[in-house]
Amino acid sequence: MEKTLFDPVHIGSMELCNRFVRSATWEGMCDEHGRPTERLARLYREMAEGGVGLIITGYTVVHPRGRQMTGAIGACSDKQIPVLSTLTEAVHGAGGKLMAQLFHAGAQTSARTIGESPVGPSEVESPFYSGVPRSMTMGEIDEVVTSFGQSARRAREAGFDGVQLHGAHGYLINQFLSPLTNVRIDKYGGSLNNRFRFLEEVYRSVREQVGPDFPVAIKLTGSDNLVGGLQIEDAVFFAKTLESLGIDAIEVSAGTSGSGEGVPVRKMINSQDREGYNAGLARRISEEVSVPVMLVGGLRSFSVINKLLGENVADLFSLSRPFIREPDLVNIWREDPGHRSTCTSCNLCFRPGMREGGIYCVPEKRKRQKEE
Ligand SMILES: Cc1cc2nc3c(=O)[nH]c(=O)nc-3n(C[C@H](O)[C@H](O)[C@H](O)COP(=O)(O)O)c2cc1C
Repeated sequence: MEKTLFDPVHIGSMELCNRFVRSATWEGMCDEHGRPTERLARLYREMAEGGVGLIITGYTVVHPRGRQMTGAIGACSDKQIPVLSTLTEAVHGAGGKLMAQLFHAGAQTSARTIGESPVGPSEVESPFYSGVPRSMTMGEIDEVVTSFGQSARRAREAGFDGVQLHGAHGYLINQFLSPLTNVRIDKYGGSLNNRFRFLEEVYRSVREQVGPDFPVAIKLTGSDNLVGGLQIEDAVFFAKTLESLGIDAIEVSAGTSGSGEGVPVRKMINSQDREGYNAGLARRISEEVSVPVMLVGGLRSFSVINKLLGENVADLFSLSRPFIREPDLVNIWREDPGHRSTCTSCNLCFRPGMREGGIYCVPEKRKRQKEE
C-alpha cells in the first residue's frame, strides 16, 4: 500500500498519528532556573491541536555547564519534574506526543553564560564562541554521561513520551564525533570507534535509566559541512552502531554555526528545489538502517515532502521555523495540500530573547500590528 503523510507511524513503542514532527526549537520561554512558563505549555498545546504528530522540545539542558541561550528548558535536577509535567499535560490534553531534546552545549557557549570557561573534548575554539574551551577530564566526561541519564529519567517521570539526544549542530556530542573538535589522544579520540565512545556511553546511560521500552531518538549530524570535518560515511557508521545499540529513531540534520552556506538553519528557502536541504544525507542513512529516519531542514511544501516520502528518503518529516509562523500548518495541509508554508526563512525568529517572552515570527507580528 502506498505510504501517506497522514499514516500512523511508530517510534519504538510510541504510536504517532502522522509523520509530521516539530523539530527541536529553543523557545526562550523558561525562567532563569529553566522552569517552563505557561506560555510554553500554551505553545505546545497549540501545535498539538494544530495537528503535529510529535513535538520535540527546545533543547533541554542536562548539566549547568551545558547552558547556552537564556530561557531554555532545564532538566538538571529532580525539582524540575513537577513543572516539566505541565508541558506533557498540555500536549497530552490535546492528543499529542512530546519528546524532550537532551542537550549540552560543550564549547558552544561562553564564560559569561556559565560563569566559567566552557568545556569540550579538546582545546579547540568553536567559530562564533570566543575563547578556547577546557578539555574535559575523565571525571567530567563521566559526570556529563550520568547527567544525560538522570535528565532522561526526569523526562520519563514528568510524563514525556520519549527523549532525543542532541547530536548535531556542533554541540557537545557533535564535538566528540567530529575530528575537527576532537583531537584527544585517549580512548575518546582518534578512530571512529573512539570518537563514538562518548555518545555510546551517553546512550547507554540514558537507556539504563529509562528502560528498554521508552523511545530514545537522536538528532544526528549527517555532515559538519566543513573541510576536514565529520563526513556522511562517518555518520553512516554512527547511525548503524546506534541502531545496533537500540536507538529508536534518527533525525538527520547537518552543519554547525561555522559552516557558511551549510549551516543547520539556512535562509532563502524560496523555491521548491531549495527545500529539504539535508535530503541527500537522510537518504544515505535511510539506505543503511531500518529504524525510522526523520528529515529536517527547509521543508516548506506538502508536495515536496510527499515526494521525499515516496522516494524513501525518510519516514518522518521535521519542521522548525514554519511552525513558529503557522502552528496549525499540519491541519492546513490536511485541508489544502497545495498550501506552501508562509515562512520566509528570514531567521528573525532566532533573535527574540526572554525579554520579549520568547520566540515569535517577527514579520507575521509586524503584519498583524499594521492591520490592527
Ligand atoms: C529559533 C530556532 C531555535 C532552534 N533551536 C534548536 C534546538 O533547540 N535544537 C535543535 O536541535 N535545533 C534547533 N533549531 C534548528 C531546527 O530544529 C532545524 O534543524 C532548522 O531550523 C532547520 O529546519 P527548518 O527549515 O524547518 O527551520 C532551531 C532553529 C530555530 C529557527
